[in-house]
Amino acid sequence: MEKLQINRANRLMLMLFAEWKNHDNEGRPLKIEWNIMHMFTSSQLAKLYALKKGLDPEICAMTAVLHDIAVVEGKFRENHDGLAVEYVKGAIKRYNDVGRYNREPITEKEQEVILSAVTVHGYKDDVSDNPYAEMIKDVDSLDAYLHGIRTENSRHTRVSAFFEELGI
Ligand SMILES: [Fe+2]
Repeated sequence: MEKLQINRANRLMLMLFAEWKNHDNEGRPLKIEWNIMHMFTSSQLAKLYALKKGLDPEICAMTAVLHDIAVVEGKFRENHDGLAVEYVKGAIKRYNDVGRYNREPITEKEQEVILSAVTVHGYKDDVSDNPYAEMIKDVDSLDAYLHGIRTENSRHTRVSAFFEELGI
């Protein structure tokens, strides 16, 4: 079995973990512990999802790592997807400037794909033709379900459809 090419996603995740682990919970819509846990677990699910659907596992993982960054760094809950642009760009810049060490940078084109998905991931009712947007909506729903969060409506539809594909 060939090694999965995922080292940039891991490095990005560790960079954000190092930054986020000392945040306190003052004024946060969600606890920082939850956001960190959700970052780790949704990125693993994103890789699995990518393998099943034929998407790029590293882009999927990086999208999952970054998808709730506006919740953590902007303390937004409402519209945290649409407000994520500057936070995603900031994290990718920190990664490219310093955080990546000797790993490859994240390209402008990859950043565009990530942003096209992160900025719409709250619209779970909408089905688009952007496979990376649909990926993060499905993975976000799936990760919440696996953490024991009540899963209804479009989130339920998304989790059920993926489970059916997996034969669950
Ligand atoms: Fe999320």
